[in-house]
Amino acid sequence: MGKDVIIALDFDSREKTLAFLDRFAGEGIEKPFVKIGMELYYAEGPSIVREIKARGHKIFLDLKLHDIPNTVKKAMAVLSGLDVDMTNLHASGTKAMMEAALEGLTRPDGTRPLLIAVTQLTSTSQERMEADLLIEKPMDQVVMHYARCAADAGLAGVVCSPLEAGKVHETCGAGFLTVTPGVRFADGEVGDQVRVTTPAKAKEIGSDYIVVGRPITQAEDPVAAYRRCVAEFVG
Ligand code: C5P
Repeated sequence: MGKDVIIALDFDSREKTLAFLDRFAGEGIEKPFVKIGMELYYAEGPSIVREIKARGHKIFLDLKLHDIPNTVKKAMAVLSGLDVDMTNLHASGTKAMMEAALEGLTRPDGTRPLLIAVTQLTSTSQERMEADLLIEKPMDQVVMHYARCAADAGLAGVVCSPLEAGKVHETCGAGFLTVTPGVRFADGEVGDQVRVTTPAKAKEIGSDYIVVGRPITQAEDPVAAYRRCVAEFVG
């Protein structure tokens, strides 16, 4: 499985998104793997997915599904028709939900996008997890347990902090993918991310894919920032 940099297209309209992607449309510029999240998907619907796909980008559709197994299975069947390369759900929906999702996502010819589980959101602290969710185990144990459940259900990997990537691989095997946001250049701004890592450090720890938003989308020269990420992470 090749390592790659995924750019988070956190824009609220088609116009802003395409204006950004136009910078990558020139001759000799590679087409980056991109992530479409709830903001853009809810603003523009499935047509934006088709349009970006038609421009030649690989797509991670980050909609984080979480519902009863039958509903998730049917929703995933619809998403598989969008021909995305990767999509995701919440591991807390249970192993039964993850298995149903995988079934729904699998096309008649047996192919399917990579299905990745969110473990505990990185915005959830140990304190809130205990008080609000009544989960009293240490966070890293909870994350590894969810990753194990996702692997048992047949999923391809998890979204996690780059700092957890090594341990996820130890727990679930080297081939189990770790998709990691929270990446910043050593000389860049951290913004609202708390536990951040540089692309080079994420590579060292063993992330398979890094998801990078603002350090690329808000850069003066996004193509140069993307290339710097690729050079540091992929080499
Ligand atoms: O701009 P930035 O690089 O912080 O963007 C990171 C992207 O990864 C955003 O789309 C954010 O929603 C997503 N993400 C995250 N942390 C998670 C899961 C997703 O930052 N735990």
